[in-house]
Amino acid sequence: MELSLDRLTKHFAPKIAVDCISAKLSPGVYGLLGANGAGKTTLMRMLCGILEPSSGEVLFDGRNIMGMGSRYRNILGYLPQDFGCYPDYTAREFLMYIAALKGLPRRAAIKRSEELLNIVDLDACGKKIRTFSGGMRQRLGIAQALLNNPGVLVLDEPTAGLDPKERVRFRNLIADYAGDKIVILSTHIVSDIEAIADEVFLMKKGRFLLQGAIPELVQRISGKVWELTVSEQEARKWEETVTVSNLRHSNEQVILRIISEEQPSLNAVPCEAALEDLYLYHFPTAEGAE
Ligand SMILES: Nc1ncnc2c1ncn2[C@@H]1O[C@H](COP(=O)(O)OP(=O)(O)OP(=O)(O)O)[C@@H](O)[C@H]1O
Ligand SMILES: [Mg+2]
Repeated sequence: MELSLDRLTKHFAPKIAVDCISAKLSPGVYGLLGANGAGKTTLMRMLCGILEPSSGEVLFDGRNIMGMGSRYRNILGYLPQDFGCYPDYTAREFLMYIAALKGLPRRAAIKRSEELLNIVDLDACGKKIRTFSGGMRQRLGIAQALLNNPGVLVLDEPTAGLDPKERVRFRNLIADYAGDKIVILSTHIVSDIEAIADEVFLMKKGRFLLQGAIPELVQRISGKVWELTVSEQEARKWEETVTVSNLRHSNEQVILRIISEEQPSLNAVPCEAALEDLYLYHFPTAEGAE
């Protein structure tokens, strides 16, 4: 199974949201990281065949998905970023409704819905969706994406709104599910990607700035991450001049984690790089998207 992106491009005139992206995805978990507006959702919508590319194509096993119709939809699961639910349905009713839309036979739909409600811990919940918390809605969104056992699973910020415990549970769920599937997920939570993705795509201004296995990418900034202990006053000055990826207070002193090509000062000690450092290395300011 292979999903191939061939010079995929989307214009929202005068802007290019996705700019000539090519990649080949075989089974595995892929994490999409990028600032707001980088083009993640636009890319994912094209991967799902919901949005037509301005040019380029998405190929599933060599065939353009736009010509595959229900054959592609049958193997696709999608959790949109703005997942809308039906407020007057219960979780169970909602899953049965989506299962019907996906063309699942009723008996199989009941069985799969119950399995999934159990997995996302909504099986005992008979409440209407309008009363759900953000986390419960998100869990229901994940369940509906898995209804047809998709071979290609596209999740747009699936952990948004989940508390830390639920995030861990979600990550385990995806890791268990992934196996021989192609899973693509976007998130702003770097630790989620670090925990479950085999490969990461760092997206900036509609392009893939970097792509590859996480240890390999993180290795590229090895020797550029430093720890420095300074006074509170000095810390403010450092923050204005260098990229600080973390800051913690300890006994009236401040321990800064700094990303810098050179040793920032003689008492700075080198430390091991992480994916978050790599992200900040490429997105040093709040800018980055535009
Ligand atoms: N339907 C649309 N019409 C016009 N412009 C759009 C449309 N959809 C997206 N854009 C623009 O395309 C760019 C990429 O948007 P997109 O939603 O793909 O980014 P994103 O990486 O998903 O951002 P976020 O992290 O905030 O979800 C943005 O500049 C956005 O304003
Ligand atoms: Mg988005």
